[in-house]
Amino acid sequence: MKISIIGAGNVGATCAMRIAQEGLGQVLLVDIAASLAKGKAADLQDARFLLKCDYHISGTSDIAEIKDSNLVIVTAGLVRKPGMAREELLSKNAGILGEIAENIARLAPEATVIVVTNPLDLMTRLVLQKTGFKRAKVFGMGISLDASRFANLIAEELDIPTAEILPCLIGSHGEGMLPLPRLTSVKGVVLDEFLNEERCARVVSRTKERGAEIVGCLGNASAYFAPSAAVLELVRAVVKDEKRTIGVSALLDGEYGIKGACIGVPCRLGKKGIEKIVELELDSEEKKALLQAAERLKEQYSLIERA
Ligand code: NAI
Ligand code: 2OP
Repeated sequence: MKISIIGAGNVGATCAMRIAQEGLGQVLLVDIAASLAKGKAADLQDARFLLKCDYHISGTSDIAEIKDSNLVIVTAGLVRKPGMAREELLSKNAGILGEIAENIARLAPEATVIVVTNPLDLMTRLVLQKTGFKRAKVFGMGISLDASRFANLIAEELDIPTAEILPCLIGSHGEGMLPLPRLTSVKGVVLDEFLNEERCARVVSRTKERGAEIVGCLGNASAYFAPSAAVLELVRAVVKDEKRTIGVSALLDGEYGIKGACIGVPCRLGKKGIEKIVELELDSEEKKALLQAAERLKEQYSLIERA
């Protein structure tokens, strides 16, 4: 299994480490910065003896080396700076990802592609369009990270282990994120039974702001430990053909009453990529909020198409 990671920055390099250590495949790190990927790959390889784990990670600045990859993870691009919305990254990252997508289509036409670069849902749509791949083969990591944050913050609020929580969160990885307390449970009991309205609203709001909170602390970087763990979960589901249902940004074609937007919904993942889009029973408020988020993404995407 050849797994290429484009962008050897914080998220890309941490993904390489996690994926290789779990033995999911041979990892190639690619970065436009001259010898960055080569240096990080060498550093990661040097840890093999200590970790007693003979994985294989190589690094290059030549994108041609992604040829015939089975899986490509796209983490290249700019990160959010303090006070910057994910959407502000739009035009710069669209230029970078458009070119990368064309290279993926030419060099690795059979690959499954996981997009990480922000603004996530828009970049996923762009990579789908530019590669011309089927919608099952291109999806974005965003809401599984947000769901993990939601679970973590609930666990902290209730002082219980995260394993007791089944978080439910859909929508965009951005302003249109929808943590769903009504469909979130703690050991099978709906979250509302544990948290009153005020505490619940606080956890929801902290979840939505968590990415920005971390950017605020780090200054010139955004989160990467949890994001790379979220990517690992997706890679594992595809490589091991797990058929697990995980939230990803997927192109909807009528599901949830949405057509032509990539947005985060639960999807069954396996070796063919997205094998099923799972439709939750949303109430009218939740449905309205999801439709609004999708409309906003469509408007923003039209700006890329016009540029
Ligand atoms: P970073 O700045 O540490 O790394 C980005 C790397 O991309 C840099 O090394 C840069 O040289 C490289 N790069 C730029 N243009 C390139 C090109 N054309 N080809 C190859 N490499 C190129 O950033 P970090 O923290 O790794 O984040 C990467 C992206 O992922 C950002 O857009 C960030 O907002 C996004 N992100 C998304 C998350 C999600 O949940 N979807 C979570 C965390 C980050
Ligand atoms: C995050 O949520 C920056 O999208 C990234 O941390």
